[in-house]
Amino acid sequence: MKNLISPSLLAADKTRLGEEIKLVESLGAEYIHWDVMDGKFVPNKSYTSEQVREFAKTHKMVNDVHIMVVDPEIEGPEFIDAGADLVTFHIEAVDFDKAKVTAIIDDFHRRGCKAGLSLKPNTKVESVLPYLDKLELILVMSVEPGLGGQKFIPSALEKIKVLREYIDSHHLNCLIEVDGGVNGETGKLCREAGADILVAGSYLFGHEDIAERIKTLR
Ligand code: DX5
Ligand code: ZN
Repeated sequence: MKNLISPSLLAADKTRLGEEIKLVESLGAEYIHWDVMDGKFVPNKSYTSEQVREFAKTHKMVNDVHIMVVDPEIEGPEFIDAGADLVTFHIEAVDFDKAKVTAIIDDFHRRGCKAGLSLKPNTKVESVLPYLDKLELILVMSVEPGLGGQKFIPSALEKIKVLREYIDSHHLNCLIEVDGGVNGETGKLCREAGADILVAGSYLFGHEDIAERIKTLR
């Protein structure tokens, strides 16, 4: 099990993104989480491939791009070209179509990018198990995707436990990431359940004591 942090730029000050990125890197974050929304899979819009391209090479963290979009087979490659190291798409976006999920993972790999798959709070964990041997990351949503600052949904913890057990017993290399409502308390529960990477947005950005807050996520 790893002990990694991926601050979510959704909560960062967009008028000084470069500084926000440098700040979390200096505080030891290993990943940086870019939320991409298309206004269709979720109602809001967020980061574009141009923004990822502008900042992807200005730091050494893993560019962890979470695409909440209806057409991951098209948008995924755009973000890979822009400098994503890891692109995570939603199983719901392709209607749980096994051939599509597999084709997208294979395509990301052919393009030299790591592949992640995400599931929403109401999606059963069993639906992602068949892909864990092909994936570098599985992303458990602990809020409904689309918005920062929501309350952690505890049923995510049971999913993390099931995934941890499956990954370890099958000796797989897939990392478990959790996203939504993560703070010092819920983060600890996620670690205990077996999460490798904690995503946190509103808990970190915009707070004077961000350095202390990051420590509480370890
Ligand atoms: C929600 C995004 C999250 C979001 C988390 O759709 O995927 O990455 O930034 O925000 P917090 O940490 O504020 O719940
Ligand atoms: Zn996210």
